[in-house]
Amino acid sequence: MKVLVAYASKHGGTRGIATRIAESLGAAGVDAQLIDMAQTELVAGFDAAVVGSAVYMGRWMKEATAFVRRNRSALGDRPLWLFSSGPVGPQPLPEAKDAAELRSLFTVVDHRTFDGVIDSGTLSLAERLIVRTVKAPNGDFRDWEEIDSWAGSIAQALNVPTTVERHHVDGYSTMRRCASASPAADGVTR
Ligand SMILES: Cc1cc2nc3c(=O)[nH]c(=O)nc-3n(C[C@H](O)[C@H](O)[C@H](O)COP(=O)(O)O)c2cc1C
Repeated sequence: MKVLVAYASKHGGTRGIATRIAESLGAAGVDAQLIDMAQTELVAGFDAAVVGSAVYMGRWMKEATAFVRRNRSALGDRPLWLFSSGPVGPQPLPEAKDAAELRSLFTVVDHRTFDGVIDSGTLSLAERLIVRTVKAPNGDFRDWEEIDSWAGSIAQALNVPTTVERHHVDGYSTMRRCASASPAADGVTR
């Protein structure tokens, strides 16, 4: 079972979340392949995907939406999980616009929004001004337990016996065929 973990990150916080997801999947016996969507053109040869982006001004990063567009048929044919990384304050924010759109375009198993991180030392002047205006707190709010638990739920959904798997991962009757396919090399075009 090969699972793509694709991320878009500007300042590294979302990369950290994606890395943790890939590690957790690996610990659960899943062959997880971590890729940066800003550096990757096309992907193939995977059985399921976890795709996540940092959220800026209510949107996913353009590298993420462009990647999903480029790989639309490959992603649409397999079980797909989404995550967004953003909120840093106590108040809940609306779902990132692009994630909501993707949920209407693809059959998404789950979309999870994780708290993010703001280190004002890494931000541009414009970003610091925005952060100050909206009074977003500085700090690392990533909840590693929540991230591990979510990755565990993905591994569980992918590892259950095929008949149950079809029940859990609704609508993916192609899954067995994908799982037994033998992709060339790592299937990634950079
Ligand atoms: C200028 C700026 C705008 C942001 N806008 C949003 C937003 O609209 N919604 C949100 O949930 N988080 C927002 N955030 C928080 C980021 O998504 C959070 O810091 C995230 O962890 C950044 O990920 P990255 O380090 O991978 O780039 C914003 C952060 C900055 C600096």
